[in-house]
Amino acid sequence: MQYPLIVSNLRKRYKSNGKIIDALRGISFTVRKGEIFGLLGPNGAGKTTTINILTGLLSPDSGRIRFFGRAPCEETKNRINTATAYTMLNGDITVFQNLHIYAMIYNVPHARKRVEELLSRFRITALRDTRVYDLSTGQKTRVNLCKCFINDPDLVFLDEATVGLDPHIAYQVRQELRKTKATIVFTSHIMSEVEELCDRIAFISKGKILKVATPQGIKKLVRKNTFVIQFLSKPVNADRILKEFPITAHKDNKISIELKSGKDIQRVIHRLITSGFEIRDFHIKRPTLDEIFIKIAEDEERGQELLAQDDCEEEAA
Ligand SMILES: Nc1ncnc2c1ncn2[C@@H]1O[C@H](COP(=O)(O)OP(=O)(O)OP(=O)(O)O)[C@@H](O)[C@H]1O
Ligand SMILES: [Mg+2]
Repeated sequence: MQYPLIVSNLRKRYKSNGKIIDALRGISFTVRKGEIFGLLGPNGAGKTTTINILTGLLSPDSGRIRFFGRAPCEETKNRINTATAYTMLNGDITVFQNLHIYAMIYNVPHARKRVEELLSRFRITALRDTRVYDLSTGQKTRVNLCKCFINDPDLVFLDEATVGLDPHIAYQVRQELRKTKATIVFTSHIMSEVEELCDRIAFISKGKILKVATPQGIKKLVRKNTFVIQFLSKPVNADRILKEFPITAHKDNKISIELKSGKDIQRVIHRLITSGFEIRDFHIKRPTLDEIFIKIAEDEERGQELLAQDDCEEEAA
């Protein structure tokens, strides 16, 4: 199988004000055809540096890049496109004129039709003749996305390219991204979006990839599930009844217990019912990607240990 992207041992060091910053310390990953591959990590991890190198804005100090099995060249360049939160459009001309210029740069056949099509796909036909300068943040974001798909690319890099979208538009954009045939490398700090869109995630920290896995695989690394029970009235003395199941939160008629195993559910419920507690409802709260991200960022050492576990689906590069 020919991979749209293989990155091997990418290194980049910045020198700024006499300081040396090792932004990329040997990044390697492989992206499969048609997948949405997320680069996830804290501020300063090296995501934008990676994307800027892959889109030709920066040169790496060392490392190897293969697009569609080939070294970067004019032909591979025409099959790739990018959108970032910071893409500069020309503010003095209209949305249509901006996109038409890009269509000409990429030599897109039936350029006008292509622009109209993209405006409709990203729901901004009504903004066709508006000057870019007069657009809101979310509107500009959608023009950038149109620009990114102008040449019908096979590989797309989106670096925080969905900023400022309201929930309804964000949903429509996610639908569009899912529909496209292009392989996508994607960064975002919106974890729900990453979780919903990405087939696999590379978790980057301080210029190194700590883990490549599916979002579900990453979530499985944290086994902590919380059992939330709601009672008909305030559960007085529930902690005494449940002594070997420590209560982690207690609010009004609700308690939360950290589950060690699925069997605990039955034991807890049985213990409570036989002690006369009246249960109204219960549910299990699983860790979100957001919570895992915070956990890793808060305690780097433990976070790295967590990600170093190998019991989640690993990449098959
Ligand atoms: N032009 C530059 N000159 C000097 N240092 C830089 C430059 N660009 C990035 N860096 C540094 O390189 C490291 C990686 O930055 P990068 O922008 O790749 O991070 P990021 O993962 O995209 O972060 P964010 O989530 O904030 O966008 C950071 O320490 C940053 O300060
Ligand atoms: Mg960045």
